[in-house]
Amino acid sequence: LHSMPLTIVIFGATGDLARKKLFPSLYQLCMQGHLPSHLNIVGYGRSPVDLPAFIAKQCVNIKENRRALRLEHFTSRIQFHAGGYDAPPSYQSLDLTIRAYEEAHPSGKPGNRLFFLSVPPAVFGTVAEMISQHARAERGAFTRLMIEKPFGRDLQTFHELNQLTARHFEETQLFRIDHYLGKEVLLNISTLRWANSVFEPLWTREHIHSVQITFKENLGTEGRGGYFDGVGIVRDVIQNHLLQAFMFLAMDAPQTMCASDIVEMKVALLRSVKCVELQHTFLGQFAAGNGEKGYLDDETTPAGSRCPTFAACVLSVDNERWRGVPFLLTAGKGLDERLCEVRVRFKPQPYNKMMGVDAHNELVMRVQPDEALYMVAVAKTPGISAGVGRDERRTPVAMGLRYASQFGDGSPFVSGDAYERMLLNAARGDQALSVSAAELFESWRIFTPMLHQIDQEKPQPVVHAFGELPAGFIEWTESHGIDISPPAR
Ligand code: BG6
Repeated sequence: LHSMPLTIVIFGATGDLARKKLFPSLYQLCMQGHLPSHLNIVGYGRSPVDLPAFIAKQCVNIKENRRALRLEHFTSRIQFHAGGYDAPPSYQSLDLTIRAYEEAHPSGKPGNRLFFLSVPPAVFGTVAEMISQHARAERGAFTRLMIEKPFGRDLQTFHELNQLTARHFEETQLFRIDHYLGKEVLLNISTLRWANSVFEPLWTREHIHSVQITFKENLGTEGRGGYFDGVGIVRDVIQNHLLQAFMFLAMDAPQTMCASDIVEMKVALLRSVKCVELQHTFLGQFAAGNGEKGYLDDETTPAGSRCPTFAACVLSVDNERWRGVPFLLTAGKGLDERLCEVRVRFKPQPYNKMMGVDAHNELVMRVQPDEALYMVAVAKTPGISAGVGRDERRTPVAMGLRYASQFGDGSPFVSGDAYERMLLNAARGDQALSVSAAELFESWRIFTPMLHQIDQEKPQPVVHAFGELPAGFIEWTESHGIDISPPAR
């Protein structure tokens, strides 16, 4: 990677994602020496820009570390190329611009090219075709494409999208991003399970009672209501981010941690997951409350919309390991806090009775905001109790790891952003964290019938005040055998 010219082209470079995530991530990667300092960055957009003004605006979120990499040095690598998404001459001149950089590179080697498509999915196909025809790297260097969800809106539309991209690019050249796969605590699931000896033997229906994967946001749609309304929380968060967490929690151990082995196990798992049914899904929508506006008050939301901003569903896995263990996936906007957490609850054992406790050991993996991993266990409360043995007082306690204290607040990637890892993996050609077509076919199979039913029947979601859980939700989880009361912290 370091010995060859490398160009990263960002389509949609004037957009929010580029400003919030892509430019800051590229800076971090260069600053830490992961990407070559001679990197060439080309922003691609439909209208011409004033380069210094573009850089000033889009690089505003970069946290400069002057000693390691001066911002001016980084931004001097940025160029801008204006042109239509479907205009061949514009791609031909993009190719010339990149080639000029490549030819001036001292290595004399052909240049690698990575294209990030931060553009609406409707133009994915066109841009992929144009790149393939007019701006591919020369032989001996790679051409790779990074794309982000939505990967279609159901099984059929994913199939169509896949055909469009597959016409021009091999699966090994396509990096489909799910930025949750770059989150440190989710990445740690495989290490926890397979680099330790105490968890995996318990990782079965004999020992695990239920699993909860929860995403909560204390934000609304913030002016994105128009976009969100066509999507809904299931497509926005559950079918991708939470399902990825589910896959790493529930899949069997792959032969190696290489992409192809991981995908094989993910797909095998998804094949044994039954389609989610609407009747076993809870839908909610946040309204005004606690001083915050409701979903329908967002001026971009269509009046009277029944789009769910909260949803919960239970996945059942029909295989030897998991039969009968409910996996509850819950996601909601307009709730009381920003939190993403996985909770694995273990079954009580017969001898727990002797201790007079109803032990509910739980392994909690807090993905955000403050990354942590802890086991809720029962401990004897210190001190002398009135009686003997059975009368001891016992308390649930947390035995655990807080990332900030263990690894330090500023350690790279704990404080860093998931996009850094995604960009670096694509540059290195490592697909272990990208989303394969095979798993998308399966994940859309699981959710498509329920999503179609929501699209057609538009069931009324349970309206709840901003910051509060929808009424009836706790009872609904209980009816599925799951207790969502918070674990000891
Ligand atoms: C995005 C969703 O994929 O993830 C957003 O489209 C959501 O609706 C976001 O807010 C959450 O990401 P993070 O990294 O802030 O938890």
